[in-house]
Amino acid sequence: MKHITSLISRAAVVVLLLLAAPALAQSRQEFLLTSNWKFAKGEQSNAQQPTFKDTRWQTVSVPHDWAIYGPFDGNNDLQKVQIVQNNEKEASLKAGRTGGLPFTGTGWYRRPLTELKLTPGQRAVLLFDGAMSNAQVFVNGKQVGTWPYGYNSFSFDITDFVRADAPNLLAVRLENLPEASRWYPGAGLYRNVHLIVTNDVHIPVWGSYLTTPQITAGFAKVKLLTKVENAVSLPQNLRLQTEIRDATSRVITSLNTPLAATDGNEFEQNLMVSSPQLWSPETPTLYTAVSKLYAGEVLKDEYTTRFGIRSFKFEQNKGFSLNGQPRKFKGVCNHHDLGPLGAAVNTAALRRQLTLLKGLGCDAIRTTHNMPAPELVQLCDEMGFMLMVEPFDEWKTPKVKNGYSRLFDQWAEKDIVNMVQHYRNNASVIMWSIGNEVPDQWAPGGSKIARRLQDIVHREDPTRPVTAGMDQFDAAVNNGFAAVLDIAGFNYKPHRYPEAYNKLPQGLLLGTETASTVSSRGVYKFPVERAKDKRYPDNQSSSYDLEASNWSQTPDEEFAAQDDLPYTLGEFVWTGFDYLGEPWPYEGYWPSHSSYFGIFDLAGLPKDRYYLYRARWNPTQPTLHLLPHWTWPGREGQTTPVFCYTNYPSAELFVNGQSQGRQTKGPSDQPQTRYRLMWNDVKYAPGTLKVVAYDAQGKAVAEETVRTAGAPHHISLVADHSTLAADGQDLAYVTARVEDAQGNLCPDATHQLQFTVKGAGRFRAVGNGDATNLELFHQPKMHVFHGQLVAIVQATDKVGEVQLEAKGAGLVNATLRLQAAKAATK
Ligand code: GAL
Repeated sequence: MKHITSLISRAAVVVLLLLAAPALAQSRQEFLLTSNWKFAKGEQSNAQQPTFKDTRWQTVSVPHDWAIYGPFDGNNDLQKVQIVQNNEKEASLKAGRTGGLPFTGTGWYRRPLTELKLTPGQRAVLLFDGAMSNAQVFVNGKQVGTWPYGYNSFSFDITDFVRADAPNLLAVRLENLPEASRWYPGAGLYRNVHLIVTNDVHIPVWGSYLTTPQITAGFAKVKLLTKVENAVSLPQNLRLQTEIRDATSRVITSLNTPLAATDGNEFEQNLMVSSPQLWSPETPTLYTAVSKLYAGEVLKDEYTTRFGIRSFKFEQNKGFSLNGQPRKFKGVCNHHDLGPLGAAVNTAALRRQLTLLKGLGCDAIRTTHNMPAPELVQLCDEMGFMLMVEPFDEWKTPKVKNGYSRLFDQWAEKDIVNMVQHYRNNASVIMWSIGNEVPDQWAPGGSKIARRLQDIVHREDPTRPVTAGMDQFDAAVNNGFAAVLDIAGFNYKPHRYPEAYNKLPQGLLLGTETASTVSSRGVYKFPVERAKDKRYPDNQSSSYDLEASNWSQTPDEEFAAQDDLPYTLGEFVWTGFDYLGEPWPYEGYWPSHSSYFGIFDLAGLPKDRYYLYRARWNPTQPTLHLLPHWTWPGREGQTTPVFCYTNYPSAELFVNGQSQGRQTKGPSDQPQTRYRLMWNDVKYAPGTLKVVAYDAQGKAVAEETVRTAGAPHHISLVADHSTLAADGQDLAYVTARVEDAQGNLCPDATHQLQFTVKGAGRFRAVGNGDATNLELFHQPKMHVFHGQLVAIVQATDKVGEVQLEAKGAGLVNATLRLQAAKAATK
């Protein structure tokens, strides 16, 4: 391996070693192409030619999102549209619909492939995890292939374009059309690019398919199909030696299989794992199958397939069970952007999101409405999340002018095949979706398309069911569309589940998309009332969690349906995290440019709603949370309702020691009183708000206090973890709070904070979760939003102390010390 390490950056080596599939071996070399890229925005003629001079271009590292650096502008991708599915009656101008960032237009990337020294009999493949969008890939001036859909992974064999005598030049042209999306898509080489060098005879990209057709307590049968390219060119004895390793890398079984003449280009191997450790969200145990391909005694290739052993069933009238245990999905839908980092994928940022979701008690994610980054799927395998992987937001009938419908006829099958082949070995993937709210639900021929797409998925992977997110209930239920799907998935239809159950053959229903409740962290509006599409002059939504879109509900309405109807499979809440774009109910109300739907805001800070879901989803931790904050100068004596989100059944509230009475959750015709404790008539008085919780036996078991804050005094900094991996990639998310002298959050503070990072780290980005904020994420200063923001510090490849300093006018400064170490402790 030495010769490889000298050629690529240390960071790339670390990532290479961490990459499970396929593994690095003598016979196969994998290079992560992260550094040495040149980038230019705009059309560049002849930039694919090796002789083109790119010295004045920007030097960037990949993954790279060219648009996240802004500036924000409501004219970026301004869309004049009527959103029929949002029940709009006429077209209107929608600034900020796609995030207000400059992602449209052309961008070019160039990089010398200095790693590439092909010897006769070797092959080279470029694998793109995703490129946004309309990628044209050139090697040495010649086009090697194109892939229009920006979310999918794709690969090209470039062997025939490679020269032995000179450095080879890779150039990629990308182009984002306006009006092609309903959210921020990102721009550029926002996912990783891999160069893979193999022998002529080799196992291709996504060349293995592993299933576990039989699982008992005593054993699991493992069936591994492995493809071999160019087997015919080598008539000598090909054999595949596969060993299965457990989570500690111990070899637990192995098998040596010759390729028989009748096998074509595919090996079938059946192995047995005894006393299998089953994968589940709570026990995400993984195994690996390491396959060595030999021609005679010569090792030709080595390929690693990581997998989990788990069984699941979707049974009519009974619901879903994993490893024999019935459960309902406690899921969230997420878009792919990482807030202040934009669409550029970063494993540490994804890990932080998943860590936050674990704390919530969430066990499932729907990758709306497109293929995820492979890093997300790998982390879901490791950390234990069940995935619904979804490819499309459109089929043949458009939602936006230049959306996927332009590509559908020519590309849909190829896109589905790549998606399924890429992720069908991943333990976390439990089901596939074939689309979200596609207008073809009601278009003639829509159910035929659904059948065709579902058949393609079944052909590529018969082990998982197929669903789709349907919103057009009457059309889809009555025209046969919903009946086609393995699992009928409905978006925002809890009140119609019984009707769907009676009319459809499946005997099962999934809440593919639920709630779409809107709120802004730290914002509370009075009077407190349930409302749809409610807008306020400050472009914020209330955190009493009673405001939703005209097509959607508060969380409690879905909870009630899920609890009362045994055939429901659970829900996927819209959304786990706020995302760039789709600022409903303020679409067209610039400067709103990011969503209000998240359980977490755009910076990853929990909104109050986090505790409503956690109380329901996380049984292992007590939840006792009060809202609103209790600092309301000017509201003295006015009605200020207090809600408590808790998994205790009952609680008593006190204002400055005076009881406001005891509330108990219980069945009611108002779903809110079933899932929340609410004191609607509390009169505000500054001081102390305290709640005492009682268990089912009526014993006082926990309490929580919120105090009125005094004047802003200092900044407090708290990191999500204090030791970073010195790998150039790791991130610490540091929450900065403006507090009074006693350490209470000042909930209305708006100070601008400035950041300086010294030592073995660098400032990466900052976000405050305010959907109207136009300050740029990458500049080391931002106003706190309702007293808080999150600064992101990135590791360098240096080991040592990292210091983050925060300053703000009139506030005592704060300095936080982190460590960057060789081995990460997370
Ligand atoms: C759904 C749609 C999502 C998002 C959501 C907002 O109808 O599938 O992509 O737009 O509404 O509530």
